[in-house]
Amino acid sequence: MKQRIVLLASGNGSNVENICRFFESNSSIEIAGVYTNNPKAGVIQRLQPLDIQVKVFERNSFLDGTLLSEIQSLKPDLIVLAGFLWKITKDWVQAFPNQIINIHPALLPKYGGKGMYGGYVHQAVKENRESETGITIHYVNEAYDEGAIIFQKKVSLHPNDSTETIATKVHQLEYAYFPKVINSLLNKERP
Ligand code: GAR
Repeated sequence: MKQRIVLLASGNGSNVENICRFFESNSSIEIAGVYTNNPKAGVIQRLQPLDIQVKVFERNSFLDGTLLSEIQSLKPDLIVLAGFLWKITKDWVQAFPNQIINIHPALLPKYGGKGMYGGYVHQAVKENRESETGITIHYVNEAYDEGAIIFQKKVSLHPNDSTETIATKVHQLEYAYFPKVINSLLNKERP
């Protein structure tokens, strides 16, 4: 039987697209569902050429267990948060222990926590004149960005790098490594 991935995103969805393309021709892993909390999320359009429908859900169904039940019925092996901005609740963590992973656009534990997402992270990295940044892929627990780290990769920064340049460097790492780490986890390899 194929292993099943469920993806959640809140915005642009370039990582979701990259992951879907990576597994498109994989005979042992399939995308069981893609979900967003944002009816205007770019991810909805992005997946049209791939013939993958993105399901939009509302806050209530996220909080009252309806969405969790729906996702449980898909029997996913892994739930992947790729630019998903809502805090995962306890019932999700209990239902899927060590089966929910998130990507964070910095080297955790630096630049994590509430409000630290997307451009805000890169802006803080720039303001602190960091000489490097990177990506962190981690298990999700009940605290923002504090679950066990699975994988990190660094990239050097130049003092003149703009926040956009930093974002581009980080996205390149995400595209190169996130699908591979997912693949390793599903194959029970060490990423
Ligand atoms: C990614 O860089 C991801 O690491 C970040 O949002 C971006 C989504 O881009 N996630 C967070 O900041 C989570 N705290 P995308 O929608 O184009 O994949």
